[in-house]
Amino acid sequence: METVVSGIRSTGNLHLGNYYGALQNFIKMQSEYNCFFFIADLHSLTTHPTPADLHTNVKQVLVEYLAAGIDPDKATIYVQSDVPEIAELYLYLNMNAYLGELERATSFKDKVRANPDNVNAGLLTYPVLMAADIIIHKATKVPVGKDQEQHLEMARTFGNRFNRLYNHDYFPEPYAFSYSNNLVKIPGLDGKGKMGKSEGEGNAIFLSDTPEAIRKKVMRAVTDGGPTTENQAKPQEIQNLFDLMKVVSSADTLAHFDNLYNTCIIRYGDLKKQLAEDMIIATAPIRDRINAIANDAAYLSKVAQHGADKARESASKTIREVREIIGFRKF
Ligand code: TYM
Repeated sequence: METVVSGIRSTGNLHLGNYYGALQNFIKMQSEYNCFFFIADLHSLTTHPTPADLHTNVKQVLVEYLAAGIDPDKATIYVQSDVPEIAELYLYLNMNAYLGELERATSFKDKVRANPDNVNAGLLTYPVLMAADIIIHKATKVPVGKDQEQHLEMARTFGNRFNRLYNHDYFPEPYAFSYSNNLVKIPGLDGKGKMGKSEGEGNAIFLSDTPEAIRKKVMRAVTDGGPTTENQAKPQEIQNLFDLMKVVSSADTLAHFDNLYNTCIIRYGDLKKQLAEDMIIATAPIRDRINAIANDAAYLSKVAQHGADKARESASKTIREVREIIGFRKF
């Protein structure tokens, strides 16, 4: 059975981008593959969270994984820092990752631009840690959104380079995966790029948002003055709202508003109201479960412990073999 690995950074509540780009695939894949889903808390250290925030954020992602439907009896759910073998593999892969290629990574360049005062080595080698996350379990499929495509390419590069260096066909090649043929990019509400945790207040709809909060954010989404000629192309901010509708609303609803747009009689207020209600319906079961398990400390700790044990079993087997391949031998 093929192995699947994916993770989400513990940097805040999960949003619809995380859900439709990644989580929805996790939930489907857990019944078909040997799945490892983790909470990427080591990755979150690049932004220096306080110990209290780190802990709260890790717990929140764990709660939201479970609430969204990841089943600890089917998939291995674990916290990245509970598996120190990942950090060890990261060290080995770093010896074979080059400054030029790391500096060229789009995500690195974006981070440097956004925060020039915090260009730390962890940010630079982020794709190496991500490669270690994936190949530590010898995964071949990685369910992620469109923004992670380049990181997967780098993971293949680092795994292949290890294989070549030691003349050993050891790590298989991991590929980004989505059940829809194309990797997903869910837009935000600011009329510009993707939905994200750090793209500004009001841009993201969180799985834990109350119905009121969802309505408020959607009603404030950026729009234009409306179409003036029939069948005209939609500007980015309007296309984004239709793209969001495509994931949360029915095909009939989408066709209805598309038709109103194309005949120039659309009222954006109506579209937003419908979009908000469909988002509320789509997230309701998750929201209810978040509230039901958020305070069940005994259950959460049992899940995390069980997952850590299973993940370490798999990771320590790889590390034993990797040490052997590299040449670390007992005297
Ligand atoms: P992160 O935490 O930024 O996002 C987690 C997952 O959500 C997807 N995603 C989106 N998909 C579609 N539209 C959006 N607007 C959107 N926003 C986020 C991301 O593509 C991702 O799948 N580096 C990763 C975490 C990571 C990882 C790994 C993933 C660390 N190690 C190993 C896979 C395998 C990240 O920062 O994702």
